[in-house]
Amino acid sequence: MDNLLERIVEDNRSLTKEGKVATYIPELAKGNGNALGICVMTKDKEIFQAGDFETQFTMQSISKIVSLMYAIKYTGMDEVFKKVSVEPTAYGFNSIVNLEVKNYNKPLNPMINAGAIAVASMLKGATSDEKFENVLSFMRKICNNEEIKLNEKVYLSEKRTGHRNRSLAHFMKSTKVLEGHVEDILDVYFKLCSVEVTCKDIASIGAMLALDGLLWHNDERIIEPHIAKMVKAIMMTCGMYDASGEYAVKVGIPSKSGVGGGILATVPNKMGIGVVGPALDEKGNSIAGIEVLDQLSKELNLSIF
Ligand code: DON
Repeated sequence: MDNLLERIVEDNRSLTKEGKVATYIPELAKGNGNALGICVMTKDKEIFQAGDFETQFTMQSISKIVSLMYAIKYTGMDEVFKKVSVEPTAYGFNSIVNLEVKNYNKPLNPMINAGAIAVASMLKGATSDEKFENVLSFMRKICNNEEIKLNEKVYLSEKRTGHRNRSLAHFMKSTKVLEGHVEDILDVYFKLCSVEVTCKDIASIGAMLALDGLLWHNDERIIEPHIAKMVKAIMMTCGMYDASGEYAVKVGIPSKSGVGGGILATVPNKMGIGVVGPALDEKGNSIAGIEVLDQLSKELNLSIF
């Protein structure tokens, strides 16, 4: 497996040149566009890593899965889905158009920015700091890594420049999807996007989902199986934004991307996979990361279809 992963990374490394690191959050522009790495954690407790697997990157939209699981677990399924639907969208991750013209102002799904901001507003915690700390602890527990922390520079950079997210949030405040103070809600959202991780951290979240809610490192149950199944279904239909359909056909593995260059993938009952490749395609997904997952899926026959 180590050799297989090294070969797949090297086969796809030249593709990193065809993408671009995200620049709309100024601090992300400093990311290493040439990096490409992978970590696989199997059901049998084996771990394999290849390429630039030690690269640190911010979770960005991958955090949307963790906050969704936390909100469902502690706020409750009914509350969460009263405010957010689970329909894929043909628009980009930060699009505002659907909020006005579709679905009675309810964000279409929790994997796009509007939906994740709505989820952030429902997290358990008395203050925005407490809400963030609660989800961070939950993340550390899933990843078995107490070192996971906020990248302060990325957070401040996004907070300073996040005008599109502010507009989504204010729109949702006007339509009563959001309750509470808009800037406080955004603060939680920006911080969650700015949590710094490695491939291994996101692979361990994927492995927990593959095991239907059992922690990979000790088999402790952290979420109920029906929640894990639901999250995997949402990842499959919405996790790669407006490229989710094409990705399902091509790769066929429930996955979630982030503009930091990470892709978290989960193969039910088999393995969790974390990939990093900060050079992105035009939809905000890691350009080489998708091809690495495609090749791995084909060589190991991992598609769920
Ligand atoms: O809100 C944003 O725009 C970013 N913090 C997260 C977006 C993102 O990761 C989209 N991913 N592909």
